[in-house]
Amino acid sequence: MWLSLLTLGLLSNTICALKIATSLQWIEHTPQPWAIKNFYKGDSAASLTSGGVANLASDKSFDLAANAETQGLKQYAGHKNIRLIYVVCEVAYRIVANKASGITKLEDLKGKKIGTMAGTSAGVFVSKMLGSVGLKESDYTVVNGNVCMKAPCGSGTFPQMISSKQIDAFGIWEPAVELGAQALGSNAVIFQNGSIYREVYSLYSTTEKLNDPAMRKNIVAFVRALNETLNVFTHKPETVYATVAQAVGMDVSVVKDVWPDHKWSGTWGPDLLDFLVEEDAYLAKKDGRAAVSKADLEKFLDTSIIGEL
Ligand SMILES: *[C@@H]1O[C@H](CO)[C@@H](O)[C@H](O)[C@H]1NC(C)=O
Ligand SMILES: *[C@@H]1O[C@H](CO)[C@@H](O)[C@H](O)[C@H]1NC(C)=O
Repeated sequence: MWLSLLTLGLLSNTICALKIATSLQWIEHTPQPWAIKNFYKGDSAASLTSGGVANLASDKSFDLAANAETQGLKQYAGHKNIRLIYVVCEVAYRIVANKASGITKLEDLKGKKIGTMAGTSAGVFVSKMLGSVGLKESDYTVVNGNVCMKAPCGSGTFPQMISSKQIDAFGIWEPAVELGAQALGSNAVIFQNGSIYREVYSLYSTTEKLNDPAMRKNIVAFVRALNETLNVFTHKPETVYATVAQAVGMDVSVVKDVWPDHKWSGTWGPDLLDFLVEEDAYLAKKDGRAAVSKADLEKFLDTSIIGEL
């Protein structure tokens, strides 16, 4: 298989395999392997490599990457040739808290130990959620930990830490929050507000790749395949639960439980620009850099591929 692909590649200089960097661990990435297997009709093969948008910035052999908007913004600040061309999935992250720690509303998280991962979309989420009720980062303690994809969750994972009262609450991508809530049972309190924060898990490329006609044709073919996939993920989810569960090591029942928190968007609305302006200002402060201008963030959002579907 590899040999014959290699031979084809050598014989034809117009064919270039599409190389995509993505995390292979999370639910959000799963439309990509589904698209390649079921719908992609480009001139060359497409392959997924573990990684993310940072690979686009550092390695020209990558053509596309998928990652949360947080990592996209961090890379764009230093690499203005990166473009966000499609939104695979939007996830309104959740915080689960333990009622036994005296928490019934967001304000009660003041002075508590809250699990999340600093420097990721989850860290941004927790800060924005608590900021929405006037809590500053100095008002609570952030505790690092690991996610868990399937019960039983081991030592050092957030669901285990909340069960054993090492933390009072945590906020991160799914399914760790769902597993934490299931472990707490009737003591679980959930906080979620997609208008304050949602992960915008996106597909990225670079201006160099998008300006190369042969490459662009394959990128359009891949995004078209993704768009067909999102239709299936949205309207016939029962046909994908088992594949998704297997791809990321989850129980099928938990995939079903968290499915409503995942919106398979494709395109985006005019509000995304202001959302990114606000998040970039926050990240700039954290990373000790200047914020990216609104005009530059407008260039970051490239609807031209969607326009060609
Ligand atoms: C979500 O947050 C927005 C902005 O702070 C607020 O107006 C809205 O009421 C909140 N929605 C819910 C369901 O709490
Ligand atoms: C993407 O898929 C949806 C659902 O099938 C469809 O309505 C939409 O027109 C597609 N978008 C484009 C740009 O083709």
